[in-house]
Amino acid sequence: MECQSKVLVFETSEQLAQAAAERFVECALECHAELDRFSVALAGGNTPRRVYELLATERFKTRVEWPRVHLFFGDERCVPPEHPDSNYLMAYETLISKVPIPAKNVHRIIGEGNANENARVYENQLRTFFAGLSWPRFDLVLLGMGEDGHTASLFPNSSALKESARWAVSTKNEASGQDRITLTAPVFNHARQIMFLVAGKKKAQRLKEVLRRQPGSEQLPVQAISPNDGTLEWLIDAEAASLL
Ligand code: 6PG
Repeated sequence: MECQSKVLVFETSEQLAQAAAERFVECALECHAELDRFSVALAGGNTPRRVYELLATERFKTRVEWPRVHLFFGDERCVPPEHPDSNYLMAYETLISKVPIPAKNVHRIIGEGNANENARVYENQLRTFFAGLSWPRFDLVLLGMGEDGHTASLFPNSSALKESARWAVSTKNEASGQDRITLTAPVFNHARQIMFLVAGKKKAQRLKEVLRRQPGSEQLPVQAISPNDGTLEWLIDAEAASLL
């Protein structure tokens, strides 16, 4: 059964970021009330940067029990952690280095070295953290959308997109030639809550195709994300929503 997704449109990308930070805190508080930990898969790219900055401000960081938060990554560029393209570096500079989260609760994808090997290492880490589960169940997954409809590093027509057994695989961004490591669609689809963050005019045409899907049209990677037993929210700004 296709999950019902909610689309929330915000006047500005700043309002989108504020709302996403608020949702993160709400999800954390819900989890803190029920579970001993709050597991999150962070998104890379530019759009979540402002959300992470906000989460590191007094208004938000004081409401989260960071020692009970576990931060994972939905994907990584195959570069060292100090490289400007590193999703880990972006999250570290904007959030991780600014909140009292224990280092052992930050689960970086190793971007340097052998991508296949590092994908296996990350999968084993996930299998240990989510021991006993046939698929991991993140409490919250943050995702973005590329202009080509990719999400995390699940690119159109990639074998990674069709993966049905592995939890993490290596892949390549054919457009840039950059090697990537990504969690797979079934992993995202076993999450409790998924939040897509999409901003800017450049995304408007693709977003229209994605949210107004024509019968028989080719499935884009973002459309492979549909939680089996969870919620899906699109937080988008007015520019990205301009063709809806
Ligand atoms: C990455 C992301 C990727 C990103 C989209 C949108 O590592 O690049 O995981 O999927 O979310 O490319 O990127 P922007 O937010 O920069 O537009």
